[in-house]
Amino acid sequence: MSSSFRHPLEPFRIKSVEAIPFLSAEQREAALREAGYNLFAIRAEDVTIDLLTDSGTGAMSDRQWSGLMRGDESYSGARNFYRLERAVRDLTGYEHVIPVHQGRAAEHLMFTTMLEKGDIVVSNTHFDTTGANVLYCGATPIDLPHPSCGDLDDPFPFKGNIDLDGLRRAIAHHGDRIKLCVLTITSNTVGGQPVSYENVCAARAILRENRIPLYFDAARFAENAWFVRQREESQNDRSVRAIARAVFDCGDGCLMSAKKDGLSNIGGFLALRDGDLAARIKDLMVVLEGFPTYGGLAGRDLEAIAIGLDEVCDESYLSYRTRQTEWFGQRLIDAGARVVVPIGGHAVFVDAGSLYPHIPPEGFPGQALAVAMYRDGGVRTVEIGSLMFGAADAVSGRDKPRPELVRFALPRRVYTESHLGHVVDTFANVHRRRDTARGFAIEYQSPYLRHFTARLREQTIQQRSLARL
Ligand code: F0G
Repeated sequence: MSSSFRHPLEPFRIKSVEAIPFLSAEQREAALREAGYNLFAIRAEDVTIDLLTDSGTGAMSDRQWSGLMRGDESYSGARNFYRLERAVRDLTGYEHVIPVHQGRAAEHLMFTTMLEKGDIVVSNTHFDTTGANVLYCGATPIDLPHPSCGDLDDPFPFKGNIDLDGLRRAIAHHGDRIKLCVLTITSNTVGGQPVSYENVCAARAILRENRIPLYFDAARFAENAWFVRQREESQNDRSVRAIARAVFDCGDGCLMSAKKDGLSNIGGFLALRDGDLAARIKDLMVVLEGFPTYGGLAGRDLEAIAIGLDEVCDESYLSYRTRQTEWFGQRLIDAGARVVVPIGGHAVFVDAGSLYPHIPPEGFPGQALAVAMYRDGGVRTVEIGSLMFGAADAVSGRDKPRPELVRFALPRRVYTESHLGHVVDTFANVHRRRDTARGFAIEYQSPYLRHFTARLREQTIQQRSLARL
């Protein structure tokens, strides 16, 4: 469909609907209080538009729903496993396919099999569960993001790239302590930004020379391939499938959360070239995850993923998907937001630090914005700033200030332009009242990934006045 259309036209029509709740301002205030101002603790039935994540929250197609009826729930060797195995082999070229219940189970199985205490994993940027699973093995995750990521306004089209000089330096410094490289496509943590095909090839050459295997965290591989096709001149004429395959050809395997570009509500897989590694993982998974032909999933889930992997490569879907995110991001910019550019695939990342200059990092400006979006319009988003990373940064001794971001993630095939229009209107209200926003203080925090369970208290006077006291 021509890109001259101003609206991100959905390439589907709606056959089944789910009612969404509308709460009064008093009800939303009570929900916030009860949740300790932590949006993870709010009940989904108290949320009008839920942009907390794009993971497992998508709508399945009529083909997928009918696929569920073909679920073969045998303990071993279900036909849906063989269908998934074929779909993953065709897509990736990797021989050994191991289903798991979600992405972090793939991380856990692979890292506990491959890593030992003192080892190092390098990445463009580890997603938080990926980094946590590396740490769990006593190994160290090292992020090597492209320098353009340091500047939210830098329009470099491949901000997901791994820093190649950084990679060479890390190898020179750590030598064979580096056991593998994980390239996250697209890179979630830096804004849903793609990795170019050129960067994948260059990284592979460096890694090969040093006998370091390359694996992809392929959760959003199709969005990555679409951006490569749009933005990398040498790839303009290739299909998304061909680009995805060329990328996978550079690697030794992938870890996949099928809750994103598998277009499924649950599931994931590992796909590997190395038969010995696959055999060791299968031995371990019988204890931890389930028999290797179902991996903690039902046969019907495997079927939904197999169909989802096919549908996600459809170019009218990907065009709509990325144009919707772009459209939404542009409307937020028009309403006064500073956002990470270029706008990524699955989410818009809004800078709360510049919205609330009077709230210092220790008052969690991102949380202030996330709370304001819920309070004003019943919109749920997630803070990606000092609340999420502050405790870990204090331990690692990171001295660079982090941007105080809020992620507005878009579930796949769920919300229309009108739903997102409500979010933009809500943001415009919040933006108008930005001077009155107050910071937060932590009342309770867990020692691990504190943002999930923390309870907070809203400051009673503005932070700027506090600073003056
Ligand atoms: N890798 C990436 C790049 C992810 O974004 C996620 C999950 C995972 C791995 C883990 O997969 O959830 O299936 O265990 N991201 C979600 C999010 C949670 O909201 O971004 P999982």
